Amino acid sequence: MKPVKVGICGLGTVGGGTFNVLKRNAGEIARRAGREIEVAQIAMRSPNPKCDIANTPVAQDVFELVNNPEIDVVVELIGGYTLARDLVLKAIENGKHVVTANKALIAVHGDEIFAKAREKGVIVAFEAAVAGGIPVIKAIREGLAGNRINWVAGIINGTGNFILSEMREKGRAFEDVLKEAQALGYAEADPTFDVEGIDAAHKLTILASIAFGIPLQFDKAYTEGITKLTSADVNYAEALGYRIKHLGVARRTQEGVELRVHPTLIPAERLIANVNGVMNAVMVHGDAVGPTLFCGAGAGMEPTASAAVADLVDIVRAMTSDPENRVPHLAFQPDSLSAHPI
Ligand code: HSE
Repeated sequence: MKPVKVGICGLGTVGGGTFNVLKRNAGEIARRAGREIEVAQIAMRSPNPKCDIANTPVAQDVFELVNNPEIDVVVELIGGYTLARDLVLKAIENGKHVVTANKALIAVHGDEIFAKAREKGVIVAFEAAVAGGIPVIKAIREGLAGNRINWVAGIINGTGNFILSEMREKGRAFEDVLKEAQALGYAEADPTFDVEGIDAAHKLTILASIAFGIPLQFDKAYTEGITKLTSADVNYAEALGYRIKHLGVARRTQEGVELRVHPTLIPAERLIANVNGVMNAVMVHGDAVGPTLFCGAGAGMEPTASAAVADLVDIVRAMTSDPENRVPHLAFQPDSLSAHPI
């Protein structure tokens, strides 16, 4: 079967990671997807020194890529609202499936985008938009599909958690840690989104929509960041047996669903209080399953790429007409590892 042709828009932190993971794990990914996935074109502002794109065609701009009839799936990793919206809508219009890590785009324009995707019969997948490498969208939508969700709560901004952890563990200054988070590729292009809670509110809006089946209502979220916190606050919390964590909380109430993002005092012995650095942790409470906790890297090149590539695999499976490949399993291959006796 012909490979599925993918176009990557943006070769920054997540785009570069996605390119590298697709290349490095090509064999395993093809076995899981049932078809090879080929990066047929890249649109980028500048090369990424961490990527060897030697044999990959480069488009002059993102619209050349989304108008390329060869491309089956567009991976939008440029971020921001306006250009990203235009290019995703154009890709859908052209009948292409879309993978995006853009939480701002989904939280603000998601309803319009999904309506258009339904009209054109294409998939828009966005696992990488929430909690980096943690497959929490799939967990809620698929793994917990039998539950009435009562609440979702968690640490959903890696940059903020990294800052608070470094302030507490090493006594470092806020600005100094933020600069390091930017250098490590954790922070948004505009880091105000991280430290003022906007990024977490985008992600919470998406989680709530999936968990409670409500429209995307970013404007309804109470949003407070971590910029007013000082080292003294962090240290006093510690002395009193608490940790300050920046949480997003979506909770079913009598009036509807409450959405809020703000710093929270958590007893130091709780699991979530011990999720440090760039790690995220999302708790989901369902009426059947009770409380669950999903934890992992919430930002960064390959963790976020891990989620984007998983979405690609899902799309490739959905594209196939072979029923066997629609079943999500890792097919047996003669060259695969096998268990050995102890
Ligand atoms: N800036 C985001 C964060 C990136 O720090 O969590 C991942 O969404």
